[in-house]
Formats: sequence, C-alpha cells, structure tokens
Amino acid sequence: MSIDFKGRVAIVTGAGGGLGRQHALALAARGAKVVVNDLGGAVDGQGGSLTAAQQVVEEIRAAGGEAIANGASVTDFAAVQAMVQQAVDAWGRVDILVNNAGILRDKSFAKMELADFQLVVDVHLMGAVNCTKAVWALMNEQKYGRIVMTTSSSGLYGNFGQSNYGAAKLALVGLMQTLSLEGAKNNIHVNCLAPTAATRMTEGLMPAEVLAALKPEAVVPAMLVLAHESAPTRTILCAGAGTFEAAHITLTQGLHLGLAPDTPEQLAAQLAQVTDRNGEQVPQSGAAQGTNEVTKAMAARG
Ligand SMILES: NC(=O)c1ccc[n+]([C@@H]2O[C@H](COP(=O)([O-])OP(=O)(O)OC[C@H]3O[C@@H](n4cnc5c(N)ncnc54)[C@H](O)[C@@H]3O)[C@@H](O)[C@H]2O)c1
Repeated sequence: MSIDFKGRVAIVTGAGGGLGRQHALALAARGAKVVVNDLGGAVDGQGGSLTAAQQVVEEIRAAGGEAIANGASVTDFAAVQAMVQQAVDAWGRVDILVNNAGILRDKSFAKMELADFQLVVDVHLMGAVNCTKAVWALMNEQKYGRIVMTTSSSGLYGNFGQSNYGAAKLALVGLMQTLSLEGAKNNIHVNCLAPTAATRMTEGLMPAEVLAALKPEAVVPAMLVLAHESAPTRTILCAGAGTFEAAHITLTQGLHLGLAPDTPEQLAAQLAQVTDRNGEQVPQSGAAQGTNEVTKAMAARG
C-alpha cells in the first residue's frame, strides 16, 4: 500500500522549521495541499515572523507541490479559526491536522515561575485544543479527519527540568483518548506522535554524534502513517533515528481487598501484587477501570 495524500488538505502547525517543516514537505511531496503554519518565534516562544513558514511554502512550490503560509499563533483561537477558513477558501476542506507547534521554558520545578508553566501549557495543550476545535465541526461534517497530536517522552515518562512541558504533553494524550472516542462515528482518527529528533529544541541536550543520528526526517514516516486514511486511532507512536515504538497506558489486573479497617495495611503489604503487570490490559475507554473493579468486587462476594 502506498501512503498517498492526493486530494487531501493538511494543516501543519509550527511547520517553519524542525519536525514541522519535514512533516509539511513530506505531506506535500506525497500529494497533500498544505497550510504551513508558524508563528516564527524563538524556541522560548518570544517574537514572531511569517518568513519561516513562507520559506517552507516556497520549497514545496519549487518541488511542484501546493502550499500556503500562515503566521497564526496556535494560542489565538480567532487567528486559528481564520487559518482554517484560509484552507477552506483555498481548497474546500481540511482532512489532516498535525498539531506540532511548541516551545520550551525548561527549569527545575523549584525554580520555575508559574508564568513559564502557564505559557508552555497554553502553547502545547491549548494550542492543540484551539486548532482541533477549529477543524472539529468541519471534519464531522466531512465524515473524515486525521489528527496527530505531538506528545513527548518527557510527558510519557518524565524529564528533569520539564515539568511544564511534560504535563502539557501528557495532557495531549488525554485529549486524544477522548477525541478518538468522540470522533470514531464520523471517521475522525486521533493519534499521538512522540518524536525524538535533533532540532533547535534539542540542541545542546545531547552529544553531537547522537544528534547526527536523530534526523527529523526519520520521524516523518510515523506522522505519515498516523495522518493517512489507513491510520489507526488512539495509538501513541514513538519515533526517532528510524526506530518506531508504541507507548501504552495500561491497567493491571489488581487485587480486590474490600473495605475493612485494615485495608490500608493490607494494600501496603500487597502493593507488589496490585502493581504486578502480569495480565494487564490497555483499556479501550475509562469505563474499563470501573468494570474491572466492580467485577472483582462481585466475584469476591461470591
Ligand atoms: N525534537 C524533539 O526531540 C522532540 C521530542 C518530543 C517532542 N517534540 C515536539 O515536536 C514538536 C516540534 O518540535 P521541534 O523539535 O521541531 O522544535 P522547533 O522549535 O524546531 O519547532 C517548533 C515550531 O513551532 C513554532 N511555534 C512555537 N510556538 C508557536 C505558536 N504559538 N504558534 C505557531 N507556531 C509556533 C516555532 O516557531 C517552531 O518553528 C514540538 O511540539 C515539540 O514539543 C520534539
């Protein structure tokens, strides 16, 4: 099966550089018409210019593709709505949204100002919420949509100095979990991508030889699979250096202990059994937890 996007319209946020630029180039090379969005600011979110997005548009056009530039900040819902309208005016629909725009304001939690926490949440979480909200009705009417949220290993597993970023990135997994359920009946698939790549965001964080292996291009196949008609839904795909993995949020079998005066002591004593991963499941919705709990409680009643 070829991963083809002919006739599809895509919006890629933060596509003026780094991973977003590669995403936009690859989607266009495979036939999609692409809105190249980028605020054009610094890695900490300061400043802005349309030049970066415009350059990517020129690259796409030079290669024979179709693209338009957009300089909206994903934090500005009115500007994001205008961006979606720009795509609809030009090409009549929006099939794919790649929520990729992002910034960093790293500091240990002890030293972090709340303003730096808030801004990172605003760009990553609310930015993706704004863009998704702006295409949601359209995708429901079209009965077609593919949305990729860019999460991070920092959100999934933690990273020193990135409490703001990690919290915002894992929130996107939560957003995906529910939107994939709500979008299913209208063929809207929502997935997460956890990339590792050498970009300005990771400059100085890793040794030069490691960064050389982590070409942003090597993440792109995962995005293409998640943005394609054949995409799964509710998948967290990890990608870096040409290696692809999946992350799962699981639920252990657990243990029914009931409600007795010494249940806290019993739970403490048997915590290893509660957290034991043998027989764990990947729940299809949050209801699975309650079902497991009540089923075990009923079984214990006999
Ligand atoms: N590079 C990695 O290893 C890595 C790892 C995990 C997650 N990510 C995520 O991948 C995405 C791309 O990051 P990157 O590494 O290519 O970094 P990058 O800094 O090169 O790209 C981010 C882009 O987003 C744009 N942007 C920032 N704020 C914006 C806003 N408010 N509105 C519109 N555009 C805005 C920036 O101008 C920039 O071009 C980010 O969401 C990042 O958190 C990257």
